[in-house]
Amino acid sequence: MCGIVGYAGSQDALGILIGGLESLEYRGYDSAGVAVYDHGKFEVTRATGKLIELKKALASKHRTASAPVGIGHTRWATHGRPTETNAHPHTAGRVSLIHNGIIENYLPLRAMLEEKGCHFLSETDTEVAAHLLNTLLEDGMEPLAAMRAMCAQVKGSYAFLALDSKNPDRVLVAKNSTPIIIGRGEGENFIASDIPAILQHTRRIIVLEDGDLAQITAGTVYIENKGTEVARKEEVISWDPITAQKGGFKHFMLKEIYDQSRVIGDTLRGRISESDGSVKMPELEPLRAKAATLKRIVLVACGTAWHACLEGKFFLEEFAGIPCEVDYASEFRYRTGLIDSDTLVIAVSQSGETLDTLGALECAIGKGITLAVCNVVGASICRKADMVLYTHAGPEISVASTKAFTTQLVALQLLAIFLAEVRNSMSANARRNVLHAMLQLPAAIAQTLKVDSEVASVAKGFFQARDFLFLGRGRCYPIALEGALKLKEISYIHAEGYPAGEMKHGPIALIDEQMPVVMVLQRERPLFEKTVSNLKEVEARGARVIVVTDATDEDLKGIAAQAIVKIPFVAHETSPLLLNIPLQMLAYHVAVLNGTDVDLPRNLAKSVTVE
Ligand code: F6R
Repeated sequence: MCGIVGYAGSQDALGILIGGLESLEYRGYDSAGVAVYDHGKFEVTRATGKLIELKKALASKHRTASAPVGIGHTRWATHGRPTETNAHPHTAGRVSLIHNGIIENYLPLRAMLEEKGCHFLSETDTEVAAHLLNTLLEDGMEPLAAMRAMCAQVKGSYAFLALDSKNPDRVLVAKNSTPIIIGRGEGENFIASDIPAILQHTRRIIVLEDGDLAQITAGTVYIENKGTEVARKEEVISWDPITAQKGGFKHFMLKEIYDQSRVIGDTLRGRISESDGSVKMPELEPLRAKAATLKRIVLVACGTAWHACLEGKFFLEEFAGIPCEVDYASEFRYRTGLIDSDTLVIAVSQSGETLDTLGALECAIGKGITLAVCNVVGASICRKADMVLYTHAGPEISVASTKAFTTQLVALQLLAIFLAEVRNSMSANARRNVLHAMLQLPAAIAQTLKVDSEVASVAKGFFQARDFLFLGRGRCYPIALEGALKLKEISYIHAEGYPAGEMKHGPIALIDEQMPVVMVLQRERPLFEKTVSNLKEVEARGARVIVVTDATDEDLKGIAAQAIVKIPFVAHETSPLLLNIPLQMLAYHVAVLNGTDVDLPRNLAKSVTVE
């Protein structure tokens, strides 16, 4: 969603702010703005559209002096249209302020402030915070006390950064339910909504907690919570700036597809003891005592992470013998979920900041046992859950999730084996076989990536289609759903994923000569034969079929399809992950051929921090 950057130091803040906002472009935005304190007044510049428009607006101002303190923002509209007036920073008197989140009580606050004579310019919820803070400062409060009093009146989620023209050496910060980090430098300090924004400058970060207020100057970082100074742990982030770059690929998405061989290795590293068929994950130890009596698992997530949960259900039920339910986080949080102390609730999220996933997790806290499966260290869901299983995908910049998905599959599979071992629901030999197959994944992915050019030429024959159907059965059904989601989100082509066996109950009516059908065909029996029957049914109705399969040449005799993309076979348990990769590539190449903004598809945001 919105991106936030702040700076206090001795360099020109503008360069740092723009550079930081550029590294946050992946979060999705529709306008941007910066404020610096320059020659006794705020210099606020805002523009709609991409950062290039903001840069043009800044260039037209012909600045000569540099400003050492500033704040910058990319806005993804929630309250008020994406216009320049609604873009942040919002200025009220001596205050310039940016905000990520939603102020739920902004209407009564606005009415109260208007009554006091405040004049509002925008349609946003944020502007009330700027006016409120200004009013409190003008009443004579010290900056931090004013920030504290402002936050006490605001209901909702926020990360605020504010400048006060009477205290121009500092940036004021407040956090509630919206992520914000501080980056420590030498004689300079940074603030950001996300790590890549400051990675070029420092790897030393402090993650602020809910209720924290902070005041940052070039040389100091002061943090308090409930009016008392607090010491927050400084962490050193291992991500290097190069990891966050495109690494020579045309798009982040393609780079991230290719990253998968390495990051799956990272996710597995140190966690498998093949000889005794066990997984070593100290982070799951608190689960050991409860595992034997677990009666139920509920997995909650959104979008691609939800598809990972659907796939995870197969492993968890088959290996650990525990009944699993998979729910959309946005649905679960408003239903009676009937969670009790024998239920494990797993929230799966790349960012760890998806508001619905966080909300669903919160519903389970204090009732069941909670586990976060997450990619971002210190993210909100990680701080809320009883345990965290990190996925180690590294920064995922492209809005369309690829490597986060496959690392989630691996993490859930490791969890299933951990539970299977504790519950004795799978023999050591069977566990060893699956773990052996998992250890082969990095090499198998490297082999699978070789189908890229073949998939690129398949895409040339299909990129003009207006609709696609993705079909699969069993473990390949979630893969079909994920393939369809990937295609629709980046190419804007309507695509549906369906369990192939359900097709006769409705979707078969859609099939004609215009309709490409992507059939995810796993060699595992008996579903192989069943899926082949479904393939024949769509073929008989004229569909243009693309088969993505791990089946043998022998298996595939007699299958006539317009394209057959074959990938290496390792084991039935790891095949779905590998079969997903050509589907990621298909979506990517179709989108490139259609000329869409692959890494920043329209209307989408990387991290959905609103409902
Ligand atoms: C699709 C995609 C989204 C996310 C969803 C959840 O490619 O990226 O569907 O999977 O918004 O995001 P996280 O995993 O950050 O909770």
